[in-house]
Amino acid sequence: MKVLQAAAEAVPLVKTGGLADVVGALPDALTRAGVASRLLLPGFAAVRAALKGPREVAKLPCPWGASAPSLVAGRLIPFGEAPAYVVVAPDLYERPGGPYADPTGAAWPDNHRRFAPLAWAARALARGADARWRPDVVHAHDWHAGLVPAALAHAGLPAASVMTVHNLAYQGLFPAQTFLDLDLPASAWGIEGLEFWGQVSFMKAGLAHAQAISTVSPRYAQEVQQAALGCGLDGVLRAHPGGVTGILNGVDYGVWHPSIDPHVPQRFDASDLRGKAVCKAQLQRECGLRSDGQAMLMAVVSRLTSQKGLDLLLQVLPQALAGGAQLVVLGQGDADLEAGFAAAVRAYPGRVALLRAHDEALAHQIFAAADVVLVPSRFEPCGLTQLYAMAYGALPLVHHVGGLADTVVDATLEALEDEQATGFAFHRFDAQAFEAALRRAQLLWTRPAQWAQVQQRAMAQRFDWDRAARAYVALYGQAIARRQALATLA
Ligand code: ADP
Ligand code: GLC
Repeated sequence: MKVLQAAAEAVPLVKTGGLADVVGALPDALTRAGVASRLLLPGFAAVRAALKGPREVAKLPCPWGASAPSLVAGRLIPFGEAPAYVVVAPDLYERPGGPYADPTGAAWPDNHRRFAPLAWAARALARGADARWRPDVVHAHDWHAGLVPAALAHAGLPAASVMTVHNLAYQGLFPAQTFLDLDLPASAWGIEGLEFWGQVSFMKAGLAHAQAISTVSPRYAQEVQQAALGCGLDGVLRAHPGGVTGILNGVDYGVWHPSIDPHVPQRFDASDLRGKAVCKAQLQRECGLRSDGQAMLMAVVSRLTSQKGLDLLLQVLPQALAGGAQLVVLGQGDADLEAGFAAAVRAYPGRVALLRAHDEALAHQIFAAADVVLVPSRFEPCGLTQLYAMAYGALPLVHHVGGLADTVVDATLEALEDEQATGFAFHRFDAQAFEAALRRAQLLWTRPAQWAQVQQRAMAQRFDWDRAARAYVALYGQAIARRQALATLA
């Protein structure tokens, strides 16, 4: 089985969030599960710089009449010898700013033109543009690759498609007239297709045409089929004949483990946590927090957006800092959240630190230093930071939702007694419930022996990619079977 992975991000080349961690780790795990897969990425500057031995395999369309993107095969340095595909279009991808937004944070107005070529590239490969390799399945990740299943279906190609929803809240919505730029037949427009309340929806295009749909945790797979978290697409999801499969993300322990991490000042593992104390002391020094090994150090490593529920943290800050606790926040994003945490730094000198940056090394150092990692998200498809926290001996404190609910066991008295607890969780999304969970964390912190037991259990958890890869292989099989069944009907 040959699988093409179409996505906008992949570590270590392009990353704005967990999508990149997943797309970077999945191909290796699939190889171990016996499936050869290749990446297809937009040619952002970092991707082009990493591209070796480029060989053009197709010219892609350009309905708006500028220079046509080209589909290039080659190797991407961080991925070794594995062949990959890149859409090369300097005027679309090689710009200052991020993958989706300009340097001021505003979405690029031509994002539909910037991501539609992923679909044309997949279509060209499924047609046999590269005589050396033709995919049996195209696995599309998030809205950026949402047109892929639509393009394959409308071209009547035999390749099956799988759509993975990493975050349904980002849908790739564009004005209706952008449809003319997408190189799809008129029949693709409409309520059964990619039209969503008069707009073009890349996400809906994927959901409506893929032979299989998955999302990144079992609980989120249920949640997106209900109105509250379905973002207007719960009906489309419920109607899919294959249902919505939840496949929990894994952790790449080759990157995220304190015993081998090149970014942390001193490595450690569960059998000897002295290095963790060194990491904590150094981080406290470096970000202006009081040097105090006894203070419970809480951390946030996150995009600062409303999804992440950090406004609730600002509300409960006095209670959160009770008992001498400290807080370090690494993140950037919404101006009101940045301003809120900046004000907290002024209000609590030496107790709160804000690092307004996207900094991979710092993220590793913070997980290594922290005692508690806060993830009070309103919704969370999977969430990776609570998993990294556990690996580094920091206890996650989470809102019991989505992947957070699937991965963290709250330290209730029962869970402590039954030796199940791995962190802290609150159920209702409100200040009172959050405060109660914070208080449980603070009380456990005053009982070092019990804390250590929960910490050891958290560090022993394994969220491995091999399990997830096997589940994806099974899903690819189902998608192929459904594609073949459709072909016999046609
Ligand atoms: P999401 O994808 O919704 O942002 P995840 O928890 O799945 O949430 O993944 C977030 C990823 O981004 C993790 O790898 C985390 O370490 C990283 N991250 C988030 N904010 C920052 C930051 N400011 N600097 C460095 N890494 C960050
Ligand atoms: C999205 C989600 C996050 C998930 C990540 C990787 O960005 O917000 O919960 O972990 O994708 O699947």
